[in-house]
Formats: sequence, C-alpha cells, structure tokens
Amino acid sequence: MRRIFLIGYMGSGKTTLGKAFSQAEQLQFIDLDWYIEERFHKTVREIFAEKGEDGFREVEKRMLHEVGEFENVLIAAGGGTPCFFDNMEYMNRVGDTVFLDVDPKVLFRRLKVAKAKRPLLADKTDDELMNVITGALEQRMPFYARAKYRFNAELLESSEEIKDSVQRLKNLLDKNKL
Ligand code: S3P
Repeated sequence: MRRIFLIGYMGSGKTTLGKAFSQAEQLQFIDLDWYIEERFHKTVREIFAEKGEDGFREVEKRMLHEVGEFENVLIAAGGGTPCFFDNMEYMNRVGDTVFLDVDPKVLFRRLKVAKAKRPLLADKTDDELMNVITGALEQRMPFYARAKYRFNAELLESSEEIKDSVQRLKNLLDKNKL
C-alpha cells in the first residue's frame, strides 16, 4: 500500500508533479485544496473570507485526516498544511512525505501568474510577493525539512521536464524502498 504526501510552498509544483506521478504510478491523485472545496462546496478563498485563516486551518486538518486514510494515493497538501497542528508528524506517520524544494526566484515566477486564487497572495505587488515568499520559506522551512524526502522540483515547465521529474521522483522513492 502506498500513500505519498507532496509538501512545499505554493507554486512548488505539488499539483503538477503530483498529477503526473499518480498517473504514471497508478495512484489516486488528491489535491487537498480541491478536496476541501468539493466537500464544502466553497472555494478556499471563500473559506478564508468566512472563517479566517484559523478556521481554514481547522478545516484543513480535518480533511487531511480524512484523505490520510485513503490507500494507494498521492496527496498534494496545501502549502501551509505541514506548518499547523501536528500535521507534519501525522503525514510522516501514515505515509511518505516529499518536500518539493524550489528556489524563491522560481516560485516568484510561477506565482506571479497564478496568485489570484490564493488568498495569502492575491493582492500583493511584485515586491511584496517576493518578500512574502522569502519570509514564509524561512518560517516554514523547519516544518518542510522534516519530510522523509527532499526533491528539486524546479524543472516542471514543459511536458518533457514533467516526464523527467516523474522519473527522478520514482528513482528517489524506489532507491529507498525497504
Ligand atoms: C496556502 C496554500 C494553498 C492553500 C491556501 C493556503 C498556504 O495551497 O491551501 O491558499 O498557506 O501556503 P497551495 O500550496 O496548493 O496553493
């Protein structure tokens, strides 16, 4: 039985790589944000607006425990998931955790065009966005660093790169199989 969690900052490629890897490895793919949105019939933005970040984190934890029982699954966590409650220990206990390590400059480039849906970034100017990314990474790194594996996910721009990254991730996980 396989249960893999991809963790990392927003824009690190959890969804892109997660989808491609799941397809190649015949795992069910779950994006935690999408799962929350389907269960609550609300967008993450709406939940943040209604309940505030604290309320969202409660919901996120509950939903993490729900999907954490699924089998043969790859779960793309939210960027903040590992940094609240005992979520990181929980994920390490029930599955394999992979931290997608991406340089802040690459995150900035990706998030500049994809920030609208993310309540923590939506209203930021370019300068603010870079500051938010570097500040958050500093704060979150102690949590991300507790993942069982660390994977460089900077090359995900083309289908060729995605294919190569899937193979590299497969090698990394296979190498460490008991
Ligand atoms: C968040 C990341 C988002 C989403 C929410 C908060 C964060 O997920 O859960 O907007 O705190 O980093 P993605 O990393 O999938 O964008």
